[in-house]
Amino acid sequence: MQPTADLFAADDAARAPAIEALAPGAIVWRGGAASCSADLLADLQQVLGAAPFRHLVTPGGFRMSVAMTNCGALGWVSDTRGYRYDAIDPDSDRAWPAMPPSFVDLAARAAAQAGYPGFRPDACLVNRYEPGARLSLHQDRNERDFRAPIVSVSLGLPAVFLFGGGQRSDPTTRVLLRHGDVAIWGGPSRLRYHGVLALKDGEHAATGRCRINLTFRCAA
Ligand code: SIN
Ligand code: FE2
Repeated sequence: MQPTADLFAADDAARAPAIEALAPGAIVWRGGAASCSADLLADLQQVLGAAPFRHLVTPGGFRMSVAMTNCGALGWVSDTRGYRYDAIDPDSDRAWPAMPPSFVDLAARAAAQAGYPGFRPDACLVNRYEPGARLSLHQDRNERDFRAPIVSVSLGLPAVFLFGGGQRSDPTTRVLLRHGDVAIWGGPSRLRYHGVLALKDGEHAATGRCRINLTFRCAA
């Protein structure tokens, strides 16, 4: 007979939500989005109808392996001119789709769990990782005000999240983020370097052969 903890670990949807400390001002809310994940993914389909995934180009001219889109008043974009937030989707020349209420609600509840009440994101970057896609170590620093945290929701296939320090060369902690997990970093951890290792191939009942990440920010 397996211990109960292992039985729960095998099924991401069945885990009871739990808070794990990551660093000062940073936590992982394990399973925090599990109970609303079907709503999030259904609402994401509406967003994708208006603003499909695309592979952005870095200022250095490299095509990113992660496919991205946005919803909310502002969207994060990258091209050969640099990284920035823009109210207009460069692919459609229209405003980004509105942030679904299910997104806003989860983001606010997650931030409150981490000690950041009153979080009202104006930007949600949506990342799609297919097998092999990765995100190299970076800081989220295009936002105007660093007082608000970053709230990051993982859906679908698991990925290894790297959480580092204030310098790129600082040691990193490896955190396996699974379907329904929410990572929140703010306060003294707001500018920590972070990234995602190359996604392992697999199939997830909720998303198929990919991982979806929603990152909520106060950008303006
Ligand atoms: C990001 O840093 O914007 C995304 C992090 C993740 O995919 O977990
Ligand atoms: Fe980031």
